[in-house]
Amino acid sequence: MTVSSAPGKVYLFGEHAVVYGEPAVPCAIERRATVSVETREDSRVRVSAPDLSLDGFTVEYGGNGDERPDVNVAEGLVEAGIEYIDVAVEQARDAANAPNAGFDVTVESDIPLGAGLGSSAAVVVASIDAATRELGHPLDPEELAARAYRAEYEVQDGQASRADTFCCAVGGAVRVEGDDCQHIDAPSLPFVVGFDGGAGDTGKLVAGVRSLRDEYDFAADTVESIGDLVRRGESVLAEADPTDHPPEDVLAELGRLMDFDHGLLEALGVSSRTLDNMVWAAREAGAHGAKLTGAGGGGCIVALDETAETETALRYTAECEDVFRAELARDGVRVEDE
Ligand code: PMV
Repeated sequence: MTVSSAPGKVYLFGEHAVVYGEPAVPCAIERRATVSVETREDSRVRVSAPDLSLDGFTVEYGGNGDERPDVNVAEGLVEAGIEYIDVAVEQARDAANAPNAGFDVTVESDIPLGAGLGSSAAVVVASIDAATRELGHPLDPEELAARAYRAEYEVQDGQASRADTFCCAVGGAVRVEGDDCQHIDAPSLPFVVGFDGGAGDTGKLVAGVRSLRDEYDFAADTVESIGDLVRRGESVLAEADPTDHPPEDVLAELGRLMDFDHGLLEALGVSSRTLDNMVWAAREAGAHGAKLTGAGGGGCIVALDETAETETALRYTAECEDVFRAELARDGVRVEDE
């Protein structure tokens, strides 16, 4: 059996605009998906995800994904879980040249599903890593990221950038612009995450931005402005000492850019009342800045605050179901047991 884990992420800036070739800066966070994989005698795949929802689910199906399981949990959840694992298994079989390999897969995750924290990328990256290791064909993080991207691209009908999968595979802070993905030096930022208990539909939200952008020049300008603020944010990060706590002026400017980014994302129609309320609760508590993270529509916000004020304020905000501090995860994917 091989067990691999991979981190979730927050977007410091740049979601949505990254789909149109603007840069984005996601940061891996210490909330991980852990996937155990064991090869089987036959070519079937058994997926067990005991804690992905209140009920959890276990399904077993044929190696080529043609049989659909009959289980008693929300169809969307099962479909999402299985589809991502299906494509991850295909990538692992392809990488190891083992088209008939079968696996028992167990997924555990402390990353809320579909909430802008990269849960699917973490599951896909950890699954491919564990499955290829099980087959005696480990991949380096870059190749793993490329295969995980192909897997996500397939499930999400082409509505995926390389940001999530690359960040999750290599860890730390990264910069993604089109196909160009790089690790960047960044100090440990004091992230606070607020979660409204919901999720957004990434495909729908991306399509909404695309149609606004096609219809209005000012919406296209808004997307470009997000790119401009990301470039500004990168230069602020580049000046900070990555080995030290970021100074007040760096946090203040990053926070201002996060606020700006949230405003532009709101204009593009991807925020929601619950996300806005959490963002305002964080700002009023004295956070340096706050914004939604990921596709939006519901899910999570990320704020910058080194004090306990934002966490306390979010805990008393009706729309906020969970709040936690998120350390920058320096490790990307890693083997937990082999
Ligand atoms: O909500 P998430 O974590 O799936 O992030 C989506 C980010 C988008 O920029 C909206 C789409 C993408 O693939 O980059």
